[in-house]
Amino acid sequence: VIDVRKLYAGTGMFTYDPGFTSTASCTSKITYIDGDEGVLLHRGYTIEDLAKNSNFLEVAYLILKGELPSASEYESFVNNVTYHTMLHEQINHLVRGFRRDAHPMAVMIGLVGALSAFYYEDLDVEDPKKREIASFRLIAKMPTIAAMAYKYSVGQPFQYPRNDLGYAANFLYMMFGIPCEPYKVNPTLSKALDRIFILHADHEQNASTSTVRLIGSTGASPYAAIAGGIAALWGPAHGGANEAVVKMLEEIGSVDRIPECLARAKDKNDSFRLMGFGHRVYKNYDPRAGVLKESADQVLAELGQKNNPKLAIARELEHIALEDDYFRDRKLFPNVDFYSGIILEAMGIPTKMFTAIFALARTVGWIAQWSEMIEDPEQKIGRPRQLYKGPAQRPFVAIDKR
Ligand code: ACO
Repeated sequence: VIDVRKLYAGTGMFTYDPGFTSTASCTSKITYIDGDEGVLLHRGYTIEDLAKNSNFLEVAYLILKGELPSASEYESFVNNVTYHTMLHEQINHLVRGFRRDAHPMAVMIGLVGALSAFYYEDLDVEDPKKREIASFRLIAKMPTIAAMAYKYSVGQPFQYPRNDLGYAANFLYMMFGIPCEPYKVNPTLSKALDRIFILHADHEQNASTSTVRLIGSTGASPYAAIAGGIAALWGPAHGGANEAVVKMLEEIGSVDRIPECLARAKDKNDSFRLMGFGHRVYKNYDPRAGVLKESADQVLAELGQKNNPKLAIARELEHIALEDDYFRDRKLFPNVDFYSGIILEAMGIPTKMFTAIFALARTVGWIAQWSEMIEDPEQKIGRPRQLYKGPAQRPFVAIDKR
C-alpha cells in the first residue's frame, strides 16, 4: 500500500474535494451567486433587474467589460458583433460532412473547434486586441453556427445572417426563415428569446466554464476552449437538462401521473431524477427559474397556448414537489432548465436545439471568464491533484508468467 503521507509530503496543504464542491479555482469579478438566498448578480446587477430592463448584447457588454455601456459604447459594441456574424464559406462545406441526424451540439463542437483553423492569428492570446476580436467573432458567429446546424438537420438551405435585426430576432430568422417566403419575426418571441439568452449568459465556475478556463489555462486557442465548453455543457446533468425536462413532462403525460414520477425520483434504487430540479449551488429557488416561469405565461398567451399541457404539468409538479419533505429536506428547487424548455418548444424550437441555445448564450460568460483568466497574473495552468489509491510499485511480469 502506498504511504499517502509520504507521497504528498512537501506539497503544502492537500485537499481531497471530489466535484470541487469547496475549492475555489480562481478569483473572479464577473458573477456572484448566493445559493442559500437565491441571488445571482452579474457585475453587481441582479439577474431579475437585467432580465427586465436590459437586452442580451448590453448584458454581454457588461459581463465582458465590467460596466454597463454608454449609448455610443453600446452602438460600437453592436456594430463590432454584427460585423462578424458571417461564417467563412469553407464552413458551409465542412458542415456537409456531418450526418443529417447528428445532434446539433455535436455539430457545434466540431464547427466552433474548427474556427481555430480559420482564425489562427487569434492564437496569440496574450494580445488584448486579439482577445477582443476573438470575443466578437465568437459571440457573433455562435447563432449562425447553431442555426446552420439546425438547417442542415432539416435539409433546408442555410440563411445568411441579417444584421438589421436584433441578436435574438436574427437567430429566429436564421432558424425559421426560408428563401421562398418572407419571414416576419414575432417581437414577443424575440424578446422572450433575448431574455432566455440573458438568463444563460454566465453562471460563474460551473462545469462548462471551468472546462473553458482549464483548456484556456494552457494557452490554447479560444475557439478550442469554447468548443470544450460546449462539450461539457452537453451532458444531461448540466445544459442538457432542459431537453430532459421536456422529455420527462412528455412521459408524465398528465397531472394525475405526477405522484408516480415523484415516487421514482425519491426511490434510491431508481436512477431517475426529477429533471430541472436541484442545483449544486442554489439551495433555494433559482432566480432564473422565477423569471422564466413568468416568461412562460407571456409567451404561451401570445401563442394562444394558455392551456399548454406541459406547462400545466410543470406547475403542478413544482407545487407538489415544494410541499414534499424529500425535496424540502434536500433543498431541491426548480432550476433554470425547468421552464426554459417549455418556452422554447412553444416557439417551435426543436428539443435538440435547446442546449445549442444555451451554448450560444453562455459563450458570453465563457469568453469573459477566459479573458479574465488570461489577464490574471496569479493564474497558473489548471492542474488538479489526485488521491492515488492504486497498487504500490511492483515489478513487470512477462506475459507467459501472468
Ligand atoms: N431529483 C431527485 N433527487 C435529487 C435531485 C433530483 N433532481 N437532485 C438531487 N437529488 C438528491 C440526491 O439523490 C441526493 O440525495 P441523498 O442526499 O439522499 O443521496 C441529494 O439530493 C443531493 O444531490 P447531489 O447529487 O449530491 O447534488 P449535486 O449538487 O451533486 O447535484 C445536480 C446537482 C447535478 C444539478 C442534481 O440536482 C441533478 O441531477 N438535478 C437534475 C438535473 C438538472 O436539472 N440539471 C441542471 C442543473 S442547472 C444547470 O446546469 C444549468
